[in-house]
Amino acid sequence: MTLRRTKIVATLGPASSSAERIEALIRAGMNVARLNFSHGTHDEHRERARLVREIAANLGVHVALLGDLQGPKIRIARFKEGKIHLEVGDRFRLSTTHPLDEGTQEVVGIDYPALVTDCRPGDELLLDDGRIVLVIDAIARGEAICTVTAGGYLSNHKGINRRGGGLSASALTDKDRADIVLAAELEMEYVAVSFPRDARDMDLARKLLRDAESQAWLVAKIERAEAVADEAALDGLIDASDAVMVARGDLGVEIGDAELVGIQKTIIAHARRKNKTVITATQMMESMINSPLPTRAEVSDVANAALDNTDAVMLSGETAAGDFPVEAVAAMHRVCLGAEKHPTSQRSGHRLHMSFERCDETIALSAMYAANHFPGVTAVISLTESGYTPLIMSRIRSHLPIFALSPNRQTLGRVSLMRGVHSIEFNPAHLPSSDVNQRAIEALLQRGHVKPGDWVIITKGDVYNSRGGTNSMKLLQVSEQIV
Ligand code: G6P
Ligand code: MG
Repeated sequence: MTLRRTKIVATLGPASSSAERIEALIRAGMNVARLNFSHGTHDEHRERARLVREIAANLGVHVALLGDLQGPKIRIARFKEGKIHLEVGDRFRLSTTHPLDEGTQEVVGIDYPALVTDCRPGDELLLDDGRIVLVIDAIARGEAICTVTAGGYLSNHKGINRRGGGLSASALTDKDRADIVLAAELEMEYVAVSFPRDARDMDLARKLLRDAESQAWLVAKIERAEAVADEAALDGLIDASDAVMVARGDLGVEIGDAELVGIQKTIIAHARRKNKTVITATQMMESMINSPLPTRAEVSDVANAALDNTDAVMLSGETAAGDFPVEAVAAMHRVCLGAEKHPTSQRSGHRLHMSFERCDETIALSAMYAANHFPGVTAVISLTESGYTPLIMSRIRSHLPIFALSPNRQTLGRVSLMRGVHSIEFNPAHLPSSDVNQRAIEALLQRGHVKPGDWVIITKGDVYNSRGGTNSMKLLQVSEQIV
């Protein structure tokens, strides 16, 4: 059985909310279901979350839920006729005073007053992910008066970015606060913060989650120009998060598409070095919204992210609203497996010249070093309470599967996002300690992941079910008699 190392995050939406579709997505390889709080009601999200939990349990797999907060995305309001067409050279106004339902060919409302105070004549505004470009000629009476420099259709609620970034909206809106409470209610494994500026935004989100009694791990979406302005800014955000997302839609608009590919590689490398997971997102299989097959360029994009060791690749509109949601997951699965056949070096230099900070980190990295250098090893087994030990292990490049064994359902979901980590429900607490290794190996044997004669490495602590306690690794040869 070939285990896929690169994980797949798929967004659920109108095209993927029935029980049959969700089951098909899970069977095709969805590891994490993303619920996008920019769309849909709380009851819709509750129902999708319930279906994912129920169907995954029936299939005997663990699928994490990731709640993606809308954040302070600045949007235009609505047009009387639903949409307009702008020509290059047209004069067009964005207004904080114009009625929100009454956009016309000349003016449309916005409900973000600071846009006007944040901007100066000469600034470029990008609407609808950069499809429409306006240059500000003047700011007057609560309006930005602009000239169109790239035209096209403009419809209700399209997003607004400023070239170069720097809009001052704070990262957590009242809606986000309400959605955080929902994420806690649904026991989501991950919550993503949109447009965080720095560590303070992440700290606030974490506090709100903990106040709501959620143990969710936090994902910082890297999508503002300021977040990648220099290494210190990027590292500050990564340090304040458990995972990051290369949110290429808004980021590409703010910094320009030409910068994006290099920045993506930098973000992946920094996140992994800092013991964090990383998701590569946006338009990965965009053409599959309308087509059953990806383009060669999309195949190449997904494969290259996998070869750069991203933890996960993500689908948005492809699975939420496209015509081929299951095919899109299947295509990602196939392409990632193909990329993973490409030989990866077993001689990782990961943190080789650094000091480790913790005992469990030292054991986790030593276990991977041993596994990568001793050819008989076919699997690494990590007994884990929170998922932290396998997280550290999976930061090192390896072709070996890491099995996270835990009794904790949230942990089993959480590790579904981690590159090369596979979950198995296992509770050592009720076993005599002399049986634990054997039972753990049996769990792999039964599933066909190892065979007699293979070597495995097991890590655990002295006390069972206690996080942070990993202090030992053991090399064991799988023998006939333990089955
Ligand atoms: C399990 C094991 C413990 C170990 C712990 C590590 O609970 O039974 O012996 O200390 O995992 O958990 P962590 O969350 O730190 O990976
Ligand atoms: Mg975004």
